Order: sequence, then C-alpha cells, then structure tokens
Amino acid sequence: MPSTVLVGAQWGDEGKGKITDLISSDYDYVVRFQGGNNAGHTVIADGKKLALRLTPSGVMNPACVPVIGNGVVVDPRVLAGEIDMLAENGISTEKLVISCDAHVIMPYHIALDGAQEMRLGKHEIGTTKNGIGPAYKDKAGRTGIRIQDLLDEKIFREKLETALEYKNQVLEKIYGLPTFTVDQILEEYLPYADLIRPHMAETAQLLNEALRADKNILFEGAQGTLLDIDHGTYPFVTSSSCCAGGAPTGSGVGPKAVTKVLGITKAYITRVGSGPFPTELKDETGELLGQVGGEFGVVTGRKRRCGWFDAVIARYAADVNSLTDIALTKLDVLSAVDTIKICVAYEADGVRYDYFPMQHSVLYPKNVTPIYEELPGWKGEDITACRSFEDLPANAQAYVQYLEEMIGVPMSIIAVGPDREQTIFRGWSSR
Ligand code: IMP
Repeated sequence: MPSTVLVGAQWGDEGKGKITDLISSDYDYVVRFQGGNNAGHTVIADGKKLALRLTPSGVMNPACVPVIGNGVVVDPRVLAGEIDMLAENGISTEKLVISCDAHVIMPYHIALDGAQEMRLGKHEIGTTKNGIGPAYKDKAGRTGIRIQDLLDEKIFREKLETALEYKNQVLEKIYGLPTFTVDQILEEYLPYADLIRPHMAETAQLLNEALRADKNILFEGAQGTLLDIDHGTYPFVTSSSCCAGGAPTGSGVGPKAVTKVLGITKAYITRVGSGPFPTELKDETGELLGQVGGEFGVVTGRKRRCGWFDAVIARYAADVNSLTDIALTKLDVLSAVDTIKICVAYEADGVRYDYFPMQHSVLYPKNVTPIYEELPGWKGEDITACRSFEDLPANAQAYVQYLEEMIGVPMSIIAVGPDREQTIFRGWSSR
C-alpha cells in the first residue's frame, strides 16, 4: 500500500508543481487534500507553462487519476475555467474525481475575505482573497455547503437560505457591502452542478480501494508547513492543514497508508503576504534572489519576500511532517551570489533557539537575530546542465551536504532549473 505525501516545507511556493509533475508518472492517483484555488502550481505542457490552481497536477499525465479530496474547498467558477483552459491545451479532465464532501466556495465567501482584510488594515493577513478562510470558517461552523448539496436543488436552496440570512446581515450591517439573493446564486451555481455531477465520487472509498489494489497514491500538498493553520505562523497562515497530517484527514485514508513524505524546500526561502520572516533580506541580495528566481506569485502576481535558507524552519518541517526525503529546488539561483548564508539558530533577548520558538513574537525583526553559518558559493558557474550530484561544483555539493546535516533528512531530488530535465535524482524512489 504505497503512498507519498508531498508537502511544502517552507511558506509555500517551493516548486511543488515541478516536482509533482516530475514524479507523478510513478503514481496511479494524485490527490489534492487541502486548500483551494489559493494554490498556484506551475506545470509545463509541450513547452508551455500552465498554472493549475485547483486541479491536481496529475491531470497532466493521462494514465493518472486526479482527485480533489474532501479537505479541499472548491470554487466552481475556477474549476469550470480550469477545465476549459486544460481542454484548450489538449489536456483531458475526463478522469478528474471530486469528493462529494468537499466544501464549496460561495460568492459571499469571496466578498467577506476582501472585507475582512480591509477591516484588519495594517494587520491584514495578505490573503489571496479567494474566499478560502471564510469557506473553511463555515465548514468548521457547520454552516458550509458541500459538493453533494450543490447537486440537490432542494437541499442547496435550503442551505443557501439559511446561510444568506446571516451572511447578508454581516455584509450589509458590518461592512456596508451589497448582499446576495438566493435566486441570483442558484442561477449561477446550478449549471455548475451539471459540470460536477459526472466527476463526483465518495473519494475515501475510491482511494482505500486503490490502496488495497496496490495502486500508488501521491498526495499533493498546497501552500506550506509554515502556512498550516495549526503549525504555521498563526494568524499569518492559510485556513487548512497543509502539513502531512492533513493528507489522511483531507482524503479519507488512515495515517498508516502514508509510506513516504517528501518535503519541498527552496535553496533559499520566500514568503508572500504578511507575517514574521526571520531571514528576510530587505537589501540588494534579497532583490537579486527575487529577480534571478522569478519570485512573483502564480495566482496574484505579488512580489515574494526573499531570504536565506532557514535550517530552524527546515528542522521543524522535518519533525511536524515526518519528512523521509527532501526535494531541494532552485539551487541554480544561488549561482548569482558570492557567499551563501544559512540560518542555523535564532538569538532573541540573549536566548539561543535551535528549535522553532514557542512564542512567535521571537520571530519578528525587532526581536530576532538569525545566527548564520557562511559557506563559499559557486558564483557565475552555470549548474543548469548538471544531471548528477558529482556534476555540481564542489561548493554546491558542500552546500547540499551541509543542509542535509543540519536537517537530518536526505535530499534525494535537486532541481537546477525550471524544466523537467533540469533535475538531479539522488536515490529518490516512489515506493
Ligand atoms: P489565503 O490562503 O488566501 O487565506 O491566504 C493566507 C496566507 O497564505 C497569505 O499570506 C497568502 O499569501 C498565503 N498563501 C496562500 N496560498 C499560498 C500559496 O499557494 N503560496 C504561498 N502563499 C500562499
């Protein structure tokens, strides 16, 4: 019963799309288990870059079954748009399966996401404004609308009436925003039911049967460890369980079904949105990493904040996800810098933190001093054509080995460029 959970080991945008795309041909199923269209996974089809936000990256492989699990929040407008976009690019979504229990993002969730951010002002989270938080809030509050509800007009109408009774008051009285009518939403959303009907399934049963048949499953995480609702830098997080533990709950398999956990981490680190970031570089080196690394959001186009690799975070990610392997991405970007720094611990108020600190106030720039080790770089050496570890310059090899030592997890995949073939495999096996 082999299966792999692939997770972001930083604040998202680690290059999960490329790695999923690379290894998905080894898997019979690729399952999204959390998040929604706040994700942006770039995949390459016939040399063309495509951005997937909701559909599992496995859709690119015709032999694979892409599954949207119960833990995902689905915006049907985005789903419809993505199905069309894929069709235009000659990619079939016929095999796509959507859990009957996944929750639906409604138009009022999107309106509330924007309104709540505005209300927070300078304390805003910096959300993608796709309605993710408000949809999960309704799920936890037991007032959400699920995929299966959408397919039954009577139930859908009833649930919508109950929801709007409250939501409209919040929109109007608290935020002074326009309200929604039941008929207006039904008119737009009922046609989506027809689109979704052939894809809807009890995905827990489907996946457990697949495991019994010795099929290989890849759970494709979105966002990253530090954006996890429980383990991230709360409240500057997303509203789902992005860590490996989210895969069983977000898909309906038991934890014993997971045999490997592959953490994806950049050779440096980035973050979008607000929140603490101990190794952030607000200088020309940060600018350089952003420019060379093309650090702009796939979904929002926002400029990502850049910083040095943080081994404290990586060790924490190794623990909370039980990482068995790491895929190190964008190593080629470091060819742009002279000396490379690695944060090995933090210092705050005279205390050294080798582990992720309990109190997140420690992580803020006014309190934290990252303790760095410096390693010589390989500036100017183009490593994008390296295909084995031994091809890498000695300093690049030393950097990877140093990170492995710091984290205690093997780096079995190393990406040296955006293309599929710009990858070094170092003992990775999907089983
Ligand atoms: P939300 O998920 O839209 O509610 O946004 C919450 C936080 O997570 C914000 O800081 C976003 O920038 C961040 N976030 C959400 N999705 C992604 C992602 O795919 N990559 C990186 N950051 C993300």
